[in-house]
Amino acid sequence: MQLCVIPGDGIGHEVIPVAVSALRRLLPGLQTHAADAGWECFQRSGSSVPEATLESLRASGAGLFGAVSSPARKVAGYRSAILTLRQQLGLNCNLRPVRSWPVISPRSGIDMLILRENSEGLYVGREHMESEGIAIAERQISRVACEQFAARIVEVAEQRSAHRVTLAHKANVLLLTCGLFRDTCRQVLAAHGWEAQVDERLVDVAALQLVESPESFDVLATTNLFGDILSDLACYWSGGLGMAPSLNWGQSIALAEPVHGSAPDIVGTGRANPIAALLSAALLLRYHWQQPELAARLDAAVEGFLVEAGAVDFADRTTEIIADGVISRL
Ligand code: NAI
Ligand code: MG
Repeated sequence: MQLCVIPGDGIGHEVIPVAVSALRRLLPGLQTHAADAGWECFQRSGSSVPEATLESLRASGAGLFGAVSSPARKVAGYRSAILTLRQQLGLNCNLRPVRSWPVISPRSGIDMLILRENSEGLYVGREHMESEGIAIAERQISRVACEQFAARIVEVAEQRSAHRVTLAHKANVLLLTCGLFRDTCRQVLAAHGWEAQVDERLVDVAALQLVESPESFDVLATTNLFGDILSDLACYWSGGLGMAPSLNWGQSIALAEPVHGSAPDIVGTGRANPIAALLSAALLLRYHWQQPELAARLDAAVEGFLVEAGAVDFADRTTEIIADGVISRL
């Protein structure tokens, strides 16, 4: 098994080594290849994703990515590393599980999988000034991307024997783009026998229900921007950003990535929670490497650690204590 390891910026350097240690425990033959990306990389090399990083990812077929910082204003030549990786490697589906964890979650009984189309929508980066004072952003939805995305919905729905697949969209206003997304997803799901489980929500209603009745969701699938927002909102139920994993999932390459950013406010303090990175590694095991038993062991080790940590204020836990607590259980 090959893994390309890209810590990136900030706390990426603190949490990714923990996830790599856990994977080494579970996969003793794992070969890792270090690669560079992000803002510091751009400042050093003039590129936020050097060609060597793309080559290493393609050769490995799997990657673990920490986080990258982004400049708050446009910097000439700089392009977001993660957006570049998603587009260059065809990572067209972003998978974000949200579930209740003992101790740290504000509510029990939640277990959903959010799928976000990862390659187009409003994030194609086509913005221009129409005239002074009028800025335009284009939103692209294509049948072929929706079909590939919907094939992933089918795959995860089958894997977890889903009782419901909710499509969140805004087809009442965005008739063409959201309409194409909804209709294509419905067609693919119906072709695979999932018609009866498909459910639709306008995205604003879905947001309200994610707050009011999060346990009613099972598989939730949506377009890029909507998915970005809804999945961050939903990760509140998992216990926040330090607990939220994701997998960027392409046809032959997958890149696991904690949802959080580079957290400059806590970098170097030893307080970064490595669980999001650990759970991201578990997603690689479960969905990309098809090792559900190993993934379940990693999830169980996190759960065991949280139960033992118990009522003690979680904020007092350091990266090292959490890392030791989880990895010793593997
Ligand atoms: P952030 O996710 O880095 O931090 C938000 C808040 O959550 C901070 O208070 C931080 O300390 C806390 N936090 C995040 N991860 C944590 C962890 N593992 N353990 C404990 N606390 C944690 O988002 P923010 O502050 O908006 O952005 C900081 C930088 O990260 C920016 O340059 C931004 O562009 C970048 N970013 C990168 C992302 C990525 O690489 N995919 C995603 C989000 C932001
Ligand atoms: Mg986000």
